Amino acid sequence: MVLYLPTPTRRAFLASAASFAAGALFAGHGIRSAYAASVREFRLKAAPANVRLVPEPYDKTPVWSYGAEVPGPEIRVRQGDRLRVMVENGLDEETTVHWHGVRTPNAMDGVPHLTQAPIAPGETFTYEFDAVDAGTFWYHPHQNSTVQVERGLYGPLIVEEADPVRVDRELTWILDDWRLTRAAAISDDFGNRHDLMHNGRVGNTVTINGRVPERIAVRAGERIRLRLINAANARIFGLDFADLEPIVIALDGQPVTPHAPADGLVTLGPAMRMDLIIDMSGRPGSHATVTDRFYQRLEYRLVDLIYDETALRDSAPDWPLELPANPLAEPDLGTALRHEVTFNGGMMGQMVMMEMGGSMGDAPAGGMMANMMHGEGIWFVNGKAATGHVMDPLLTVAHGRTCVLAMTNATAWHHPIHLHGHSFRVLSRNGLPTAHREWQDTVLMAPREKVEIAFVSDNPGDWMFHCHILEHQAAGMMGVIRVSGREERR
Ligand code: C2O
Ligand code: CU
Repeated sequence: MVLYLPTPTRRAFLASAASFAAGALFAGHGIRSAYAASVREFRLKAAPANVRLVPEPYDKTPVWSYGAEVPGPEIRVRQGDRLRVMVENGLDEETTVHWHGVRTPNAMDGVPHLTQAPIAPGETFTYEFDAVDAGTFWYHPHQNSTVQVERGLYGPLIVEEADPVRVDRELTWILDDWRLTRAAAISDDFGNRHDLMHNGRVGNTVTINGRVPERIAVRAGERIRLRLINAANARIFGLDFADLEPIVIALDGQPVTPHAPADGLVTLGPAMRMDLIIDMSGRPGSHATVTDRFYQRLEYRLVDLIYDETALRDSAPDWPLELPANPLAEPDLGTALRHEVTFNGGMMGQMVMMEMGGSMGDAPAGGMMANMMHGEGIWFVNGKAATGHVMDPLLTVAHGRTCVLAMTNATAWHHPIHLHGHSFRVLSRNGLPTAHREWQDTVLMAPREKVEIAFVSDNPGDWMFHCHILEHQAAGMMGVIRVSGREERR
């Protein structure tokens, strides 16, 4: 029952007679020639399965998953490797796979009708792309995702640095949130109006790596690299590690100046990732509780870290924390094209719009309300609610330009805003420069917050730009940013 077959083959071997030409072809791409690239093959089959999410005496939960497990198999490669992933659709409906955060060519981005025809039941589609950036990524369908992701279709994609930070142990926690019935089945009230209009489908059961977690064994003095991935449709996590002092070394896969998380909380919106270095500073035999405090008055114990009776070492190691940078083009703010993007809608949206001055392009507040009543979209990007993945671009930019998006969240809700095909720097929040100008592919905007991001449009194609609260995306909060093929000289 092997559904996951990493079979490294040498690109050099595949290229065989064409190797001279291929060498010349790739010479212009620094990232490709910098590593001994190999092709890594994987197979994923999306299909129904039964898995144990919650402990006995509950039943197993009927899910849809990759390789009959939740999360799906870890895909782990080295930076510069080429991935070839054969995806077989064993579901009764169409699907696709999107490689969240990976800067793939447009045709490999997994957006149905926009970048590929959806994979029909029984069909296979092969994705092939280079792992240009090292970091923590994940994969999930982009088809009917409020249902497909919620039912368990997701998995981690880890791209190792050639020269990673030194740690004793590496852990990946892929967090998810489920709305389960008393019989431990997934509640089938998908896409109900309340979830669409408020903060999305927030559930009642949280899992780490597909299990309701109890305890995780650690050792005093141990240094752990913890890769966190939020695969929930809608739940935002705000993790409190008690007396431990996690240091953030990467956001959304991209290295960041190592720093303690703001107000001590590790905050992760849907689709976001964070790499932490945690020195286990407690005493042997003790324990530390990780608590999720994001939603006020709804705090809960996520998991206990249980220290072994014997220490690994007496004090924290002094190994460096800095990760090597990825090959991202640096935005040139001097020549940037600036665009305003306003997000509207949802419950109490009109009130917030009034408060914020009520400018929302060509859709007056009354019109928006009428649309909402007719079920033609609840959330709007510059006054338009998407009804599918194919639409006129929100924005067309020439290849190779720096774009600044000045975004306003004119709603009463949080939104994790994701851009496909690029990573962007977060320049400012509410007019104040960010401390780390962090690279991200998904930025969490608080209600009424203004955030400026900048990126170089170096990846041609039509790219989704959407809220990653999947119910918001489904109810209109999505647009397309087109990067035209020609490089514009400046
Ligand atoms: Cu994680 Cu458009 O997706
Ligand atoms: Cu949203």
